[in-house]
Amino acid sequence: MDYFVIDGPTPLMGDVRIAGAKNATLPLMAAALLARGETRLANAPDLRDRRFFLDLLRELGVAGELANGELRLDTTVPLTSHTAPYDIVRKMRASIYVLGPLLAAYGAARVSKPGGCAWGPRPVDLHTAGVAALGAEVTEEHGYIISRAPRGLRGGRFRFEPVSVGATCNVMMAAVLARGETLLENCACEPEVVQLGEALVAAGARVEGLGTRTLHIEGVSSLAPLRCTVIPDRIEAGTFLAAVAVAGGRIRLSGCRLDHLQPVLGVLRDLGCTVASEGDQVVAERRGPLQPVRVITEPFPGFPTDMQAQIMAAAALAGGVSRITDTIYPDRFTHAAELQRLGAQIDVHDGTAIVTGVAALQGAPVMATDLRASAALVLAAVAAHGRSEVRRVYHIDRGYERIEQRLAALGAKIQRMSA
Ligand code: UD1
Repeated sequence: MDYFVIDGPTPLMGDVRIAGAKNATLPLMAAALLARGETRLANAPDLRDRRFFLDLLRELGVAGELANGELRLDTTVPLTSHTAPYDIVRKMRASIYVLGPLLAAYGAARVSKPGGCAWGPRPVDLHTAGVAALGAEVTEEHGYIISRAPRGLRGGRFRFEPVSVGATCNVMMAAVLARGETLLENCACEPEVVQLGEALVAAGARVEGLGTRTLHIEGVSSLAPLRCTVIPDRIEAGTFLAAVAVAGGRIRLSGCRLDHLQPVLGVLRDLGCTVASEGDQVVAERRGPLQPVRVITEPFPGFPTDMQAQIMAAAALAGGVSRITDTIYPDRFTHAAELQRLGAQIDVHDGTAIVTGVAALQGAPVMATDLRASAALVLAAVAAHGRSEVRRVYHIDRGYERIEQRLAALGAKIQRMSA
């Protein structure tokens, strides 16, 4: 199992190009199942989760390859299976995204039920209730969600409570090929949901209201294969920006969508960073001391749950007490205990982490528990005095392309080791 050896502290200086968004790519890959022919996704990132998703699609009978950043998925020949097996789903929860497309295009889906994750339960009840509202029969047998719509899906009405990115994507993909009209309420407005909807519309789907809480969908009988350029990864961009907040220095990001980054840029400024932007570039600088912050995660356009761990690494060094509340996943604080091994002072009570800033962090061996938690540990280790080892970096490889090489190019002393 690979691990990182990091010697700190080092400030970060230089340029980074932001890759395509993981959380946009995976539902777009699932949407390839809705059409016959070759789907092409440009700017697709080269990540472990993307490779897992390709393994899943191959398991179903889809041919696919990534070449020069373009992902091609060929669904010309009929599928050989409608099953997302346990061995793939247990590695990647996003496998649930095939449920809606398989039902809509093939009338049957069998998906291993995703379990919880490191920080607690992550239910999929809204995904199944949403497709049931479109006429699918859904049962559970031996750990699998078995779903059928032998006579096809029909339009229906469904309200998501709470707002769910995954369920909005899944039910929207099902509804675009259902007979008649569908009304979806309290939908997620995340940029990744909007991108999926826009790609479906470009392929012939009729979806109105993208970027709002209400979607009106009129089913069509078929779609053309999808063609789109994956949006920049706002969480990867936010992670590099948080890195400069934690470690100090000045970095320039290119290939960003500023409209997707606003909630994160606001918190960076609160932390004491200077942030300037022009076109698709963001320049962030941190010279002076860090200031404490109040962060509350919320559905977009609120502050993303996927960024609270990285901001916690910066808050650990701020001059005062910061409060970080995760309203999406109130138990998502497994990184707090590992950050404490680096010298951070953090107490977690009722979904809020109370972070009392310390003057310096100290290098130590730590263990990554999930994707964004591992990013937070790497950032903290870059700023900590002395040597850290971050174990289980396979978590970070799920969502960041060669992060150690990109941080090293900015001046971090980080090496990947194979145990
Ligand atoms: C969530 C984040 C997303 C992030 C991802 C991975 C939000 C709104 N979503 O997306 O930005 O990239 O985690 O970290 O911030 N829920 C149910 N039943 C369901 C599905 C979800 O109760 O069937 C609940 C969840 O427990 C959670 C909330 O809805 O409290 C949002 O979940 P959802 O958006 O579906 O999670 P992800 O799609 O994983």
